[in-house]
Amino acid sequence: MSHTARKASGAHFTPPALAALLAERLVNLLPNGHRALRIMDPACGDGNLLAALVDALPVTHRSRVTLVGVEKEAASLSAARDRFGGAWQDRAKWIEGDFLELAGNGKSGRATWRGVDAIIANPPYVRTQVLGAARSQALARRFGLVGRVDLSQAFLVAMGKTLRPGGLLALITSNRFLSTRAGTASRDCLNREFELLEVVDLGDTRLFDAAVLPALVFARKRERGPHRTARSRTMRAAPSTTFTRIYLADGERSSQETNDAVNAPSVTELVRRAEPGLFRVRDASYRVDCGALAVPADARQPWRLTTSGESEWLRRVEAGTAMRVGDVAHVRVGVKTTADAVFIRNDWETLPESHRPEPQHLRRLLRQEEAVRWRIPQGRTVAPGVHRILYPHFVKDGRREVVEYAVDSPTWAYLESHRERLERRTYVIEAGRRWYEIWVPQDPAGWAQPKVVFPDISPEPRFFLDRAGCVVDGNCYWIAPKECRDDDLLLFIMGVANSALMARYHDLAFPNRLYAGRRRHLTQYVREYPLPDPDSPASRRLIETVRGLTLRPPGEAARRVGQQRVDRLVEEAFGIVDEE
Ligand SMILES: C[S@@+](CC[C@H](N)C(=O)[O-])C[C@H]1O[C@@H](n2cnc3c(N)ncnc32)[C@H](O)[C@@H]1O
Repeated sequence: MSHTARKASGAHFTPPALAALLAERLVNLLPNGHRALRIMDPACGDGNLLAALVDALPVTHRSRVTLVGVEKEAASLSAARDRFGGAWQDRAKWIEGDFLELAGNGKSGRATWRGVDAIIANPPYVRTQVLGAARSQALARRFGLVGRVDLSQAFLVAMGKTLRPGGLLALITSNRFLSTRAGTASRDCLNREFELLEVVDLGDTRLFDAAVLPALVFARKRERGPHRTARSRTMRAAPSTTFTRIYLADGERSSQETNDAVNAPSVTELVRRAEPGLFRVRDASYRVDCGALAVPADARQPWRLTTSGESEWLRRVEAGTAMRVGDVAHVRVGVKTTADAVFIRNDWETLPESHRPEPQHLRRLLRQEEAVRWRIPQGRTVAPGVHRILYPHFVKDGRREVVEYAVDSPTWAYLESHRERLERRTYVIEAGRRWYEIWVPQDPAGWAQPKVVFPDISPEPRFFLDRAGCVVDGNCYWIAPKECRDDDLLLFIMGVANSALMARYHDLAFPNRLYAGRRRHLTQYVREYPLPDPDSPASRRLIETVRGLTLRPPGEAARRVGQQRVDRLVEEAFGIVDEE
């Protein structure tokens, strides 16, 4: 199957080792006794999960189990049917069709679609963009979902309807549901309809040749109907839900610790052992964390793993929290031109004079690539290699306006020479805007004020101050105070955000790491960053230290000492360590 076809149908088949692990754990949860058990895979592909299940079943269970495989693709379903011989031929039912249709209306024999004892599944994961708005909205209506629905969310609701009360779910899904806003619907459904038994976040272990990073979820459908929860930030710690998290640890630990890593035969074996620590599998190191799943009552908040040590540490940070970044500052994304090649360049000087926009229309653009902690070297404003943006917006009387360039100006000549390309952005014109506007210009008056800028994707925090009125690119975000206009609040926020304490908090509160330990610093996370009392002596000293770091480019050694001081003062300000 081609990559595109796979993306459209969400058909990434489960590797055998992972299938075996999922099946084994489901079998351990099956009730003992003699009662007949109907086990379904609602998106069975070539049947490898059901085959793994059969392999994992103890002989005593085999005669009680019947299988149901549902699959949209005829060829896959026939491959599934062909792999089950012997007694399973009579005890397996294969249904070609769309599970979401069939589970929704029960046309193909009600008995098949209700009261299933267990479901084992790796449902298709098809993002809203690929699904298309119309299908996504239809699914949302049908399955009572809100927001941007992807196929796996609709599957989750449909699987909930299909299971009997007390029925078991063993699921492979994208780990993004744990922590992203887009995962709200899945968290909400799991929280209300199911009792969660175990979650395994397999992070970037590359167990899977899929675009998404996998998580395993084991849950039991609630016996007494949906669980109602109030919307609040309070954690409903779910101590009965065990949580294992496995991530590549390369580059994260000292070489001494890496040398101490315990050898293990495979990543799946690490899940079986569920022991925390650092492990080596062939030539890679993995960090395994084990603990309980903290589930906030409000499904919009991410779920997180907390070991008992981490819970205590988080409790102390919360106790030292006076406010959140979002209480005192706006956190916004940068501009999106939708024609970067025209608007953003680092070679404006090389254009012929007749088509070289005048300097007053070009503004320094801060981009992810050049972000460094504390400050961007000044004086590089028009140096070669620095990107500047042709920014056709300004504010007059509180309203955003578009610059009217003189028709005989070089700027106009430049824009005219790219007119065809810019007019292809028909959505700009359909929105009643000028053809040379940038699509998301943000607040043109906002650039002038001092702000803290940071890149979205970065292995470590890289928050830096901009006092030069630069524009911020769409791959970065910027923080501006809501009210007070002095720099101290920004220096304070930047000091906390660049500290080791906040990097740890970020990982615990927003476990959304990408490959190779890169973190996402999204608006929704940074808004939730806790801040200690800004007027405490430690906070005042922090502000002064950070001010020093932003004033002149410190040498490497001074920067290291400054960072250590920042780390120490942030811990003091939160009351994690005693003041010196
Ligand atoms: C991620 S694959 C998993 C297949 C198999 N269970 C496994 O784990 O290897 C998802 C499967 O769902 C099928 N599929 C996609 N949409 C479906 C639908 N609406 N109803 C039933 N099957 C569907 C795809 O054709 C694909 O075989």
